[in-house]
Amino acid sequence: MPSTRIPGPPGLPLIGSMFDLTRDPLRACLDAQREYGDVVRFTAGPPGLRAEFYMVFSPDGVQQVLAGQAANFRKENAIYEEVRISLGNGLLTAQDGDYQRQRRLIQPLFTRKRVDGYADAIGIESQALVERWAAVPDGVVDTVGELSRFALRTVARILFGTDVEAAIEVVRTSFPALGEYIMDRGFAPVRIPRQWPTPGNRKALTAQTELYRICDEIIARRRSQGQADEAEDLLGLLAAARGEGGEQLDASELRDQVLVFLLAGHETTATSLTFALHLLALHPEQRKRAQQEVDGVLADGRRPVAADLEALPYLTRVLKEAMRLYPAAGLVGRRAVAECEIDGQRIPAGADVIVSPWVTHRHPDHWENPAVFDPERFTPEREAARHRYAWYPFGGGPRACIGQHFSMLESVLTLAALLRAFDLEAIDTVVPVGQTLTLQAEGPVRVRLAAR
Ligand code: HEM
Repeated sequence: MPSTRIPGPPGLPLIGSMFDLTRDPLRACLDAQREYGDVVRFTAGPPGLRAEFYMVFSPDGVQQVLAGQAANFRKENAIYEEVRISLGNGLLTAQDGDYQRQRRLIQPLFTRKRVDGYADAIGIESQALVERWAAVPDGVVDTVGELSRFALRTVARILFGTDVEAAIEVVRTSFPALGEYIMDRGFAPVRIPRQWPTPGNRKALTAQTELYRICDEIIARRRSQGQADEAEDLLGLLAAARGEGGEQLDASELRDQVLVFLLAGHETTATSLTFALHLLALHPEQRKRAQQEVDGVLADGRRPVAADLEALPYLTRVLKEAMRLYPAAGLVGRRAVAECEIDGQRIPAGADVIVSPWVTHRHPDHWENPAVFDPERFTPEREAARHRYAWYPFGGGPRACIGQHFSMLESVLTLAALLRAFDLEAIDTVVPVGQTLTLQAEGPVRVRLAAR
């Protein structure tokens, strides 16, 4: 019988590790792995009301949670429950029959061939970004806001067939506010009813109302632009979809999808791009090598196309290494339905289980000098020799990220366009990060650009 006494930090007498988990869950998890090993139990809250969280860090354990025993690990943990209340029942949160129906419907948008077709839009948007940056008088840009706007514009153009310029600021402030609220509640032993007019509840409700309004506007604008049912983007597919009895998605189901894709499709890619550029700005040797590769591929000054991805293996390695050090989803949660064994430890039925790319990507048994930026870790030979779940920024198993290829294509082509145009120098050499719904830089990530 596996062990039942899973080790973990004692935390403070009355609240356990509640503050550590809400203030800086990435640090709390990393410290816990170093001290207690690959399966760790955290407690949060006073005795009698104590919540427990089981963290799993080893690649083997992660594989069990996300893939091998996926049916036992459902998206019903505290954080996913909060996400579902805030963001609805779209593809990220739905389960069972609802999920199967949605995934079948949406999958055709993410086939490799289809995604390669998005390269044109990516090329146009990244060219506009280069021009915008070239016009900045002192050459200093804060990549956080800039790349978040860029990723939002790109995903909206491709998936919703509309531009979201007017919505950008609302989306950029509302998602983080809601994300923080979701994480606070997700790790709280007792959740205050959402209807109570506390400052936190009011702020979250305002953010949610604003986001709903933006999604409804996106849908309405697209409808007014023409026949949504005929277009071949996300809104067109969803609007044209019919169930077995001929029923259509209603307005709120449509909005839930828009909301999920707005979130999942822009914050994550923006984070990867931001940190890839930051790391390149900090490491001249790797930057020069990436620039040489880009110059060879895009020598004639043309816009990058999908086929260039294969011709940019070094830049792809840089991106993968940036996603190792800064995985946009630093924590991924589930609820264990039945008691099970993970990595030799007994996880009880009903347990809130969290895996952490942030921690596994720094696991000393799987990564030599894990703090060092080294794109060479991702040569094909070294990748093939590594555990499949030592690196999993896109999750894995049946609920792996649907936007994986889209995101890699967007990031590599955009980095190529930027590296061809500019040389970079990091202004903020140390960037603190935090985790709300996604990993966030907690401060500016500025670079000084020089035209090449
Ligand atoms: C660097 C970029 C990205 C990262 C790191 C990332 C990460 C992830 C992860 C870890 C999951 C699994 C969550 C879980 O198992 O609980 C996921 C799921 C998902 N992602 Fe991404 N993602 C990225 C980009 C995108 C993009 C560009 C889109 C859409 C255009 C997208 C849409 C989704 C959706 C809809 C799901 C749910 C899929 C399902 O359950 O079937 N993601 N993503």
